[in-house]
Amino acid sequence: MKLTPSFFKRSGLIALLLGAGACTVGLVVAADTESALLERAKQVFRPLPYTAHVDDYPHSAARVELGKKLFFETRVSIDGRTGCVSCHSPSHYGADSLPRSVGVNGVVLPRNAHTVFNTPLLIAQHYGGNRVSVEEQAWKALTSPLAYGNKSFAEAEAKLHKLGYKPLFEEAFPNEKEAISAQNWAIAIGAFERTLLTPAPFDQYLKGNTKAISADAKAGLDKFISYGCAGCHSGATVGGESFQKFGLLEDYWKATGSVEIPLLKGYDKGKFHDTGKEEDQWIFKVPQLRNVAMTPPYFHDGSVATLDDAVRVMARVQLGKQLSDTDVRQIVAFLSTLTGEVPKQFKEAPRLPVAAFQRP
Ligand code: HEC
Ligand code: HEC
Repeated sequence: MKLTPSFFKRSGLIALLLGAGACTVGLVVAADTESALLERAKQVFRPLPYTAHVDDYPHSAARVELGKKLFFETRVSIDGRTGCVSCHSPSHYGADSLPRSVGVNGVVLPRNAHTVFNTPLLIAQHYGGNRVSVEEQAWKALTSPLAYGNKSFAEAEAKLHKLGYKPLFEEAFPNEKEAISAQNWAIAIGAFERTLLTPAPFDQYLKGNTKAISADAKAGLDKFISYGCAGCHSGATVGGESFQKFGLLEDYWKATGSVEIPLLKGYDKGKFHDTGKEEDQWIFKVPQLRNVAMTPPYFHDGSVATLDDAVRVMARVQLGKQLSDTDVRQIVAFLSTLTGEVPKQFKEAPRLPVAAFQRP
């Protein structure tokens, strides 16, 4: 089995079908009783599934464990200091808390890092959706000049050999002649990422425990649905199911204070940078809102520091609505019910192979 982009497409396609089937947003009814609110919420959202593993990428305990080590491994990058964990760390809820991430050799990336939690459930990866699965994302990071900076997959594979990863790959990929490969790196990291789900109080609520979230959060949930936020942020991940224009009613940067990005030759135009198509200008993947209270700053460039302000910006540029302070407080209370625990297996750093390896 060789890694080609089409190999990675399969799980993306499945996610697309799931997403398309799942995002029927119910009609909005006005004043509501407690159980009617729950019923409306159930039409729009779903609890997180128990697992994000899919048949396309068979996993085993050895594969997940290897993936975890590789996620925390920084010595495969060309500066020896950059790895998934540098931009997606346990102390920052799987993101990095920077407006825009800092990559290999100190380069400032054009975008803000998403959290890695729950991402295998999304329609595609990245704001432009240019990675169909978490596996394709991990694969291409190896040779990205902004992430690991390797000139070729062979260069990265040679480092994995030198670092002493051979027995670990052989255990995770038994019966393969060349167990160390960029493809298997991606499959192992994907297997680990697929364990990083973060169930939250809102899931308890959706399963019928109406005491799991506060009265303020319920009022916020009500507004989130009736004002139209849930038209885009829906499903199990409260977003991540579709691509939408950012700035439906006014140019987004006027509300966010975004600056032009030299690498993108202006304001970030989203999907357009991946496809070059006019109709993809200003189209971004709707981000998931799980754990959003824990992953400031906000938007694709981290241009907005607080969740209160991000909620105000959204109402203004997507819905043409001015929110009151009470609206904002209640919507933020609802969004805070999407905060789960940092998964235990992500909190504890793994022991990495020790090898006579020179830092570049
Ligand atoms: C130098 C910082 C950096 C490194 C290293 C890095 N990432 Fe990221 N990651 C980002 C940024 C920035 C984004 C957003 C990119 C975009 O949307 O265009 C991102 C996006 C993602 C996403 C998409 C999530 C979503 O909601 O769409 C996943 C998954 C991910 N990274 C996983 C990884 C994994 C796995 C590794 C290691 C193989 C890795 N990242 C290495 C900064 C980094
Ligand atoms: C028409 C679709 C649409 C609607 C309606 C919408 N959003 Fe969004 N939302 C998006 C998109 C697209 C982004 C990503 C923007 C970017 O950063 O490029 C986003 C981003 C966000 C973010 C930032 C997430 C992060 O991690 O940076 C928050 C918070 C948010 N939306 C909340 C809301 C709230 C609250 C409402 C209702 C007041 C709402 N959204 C309405 C499409 C929508």
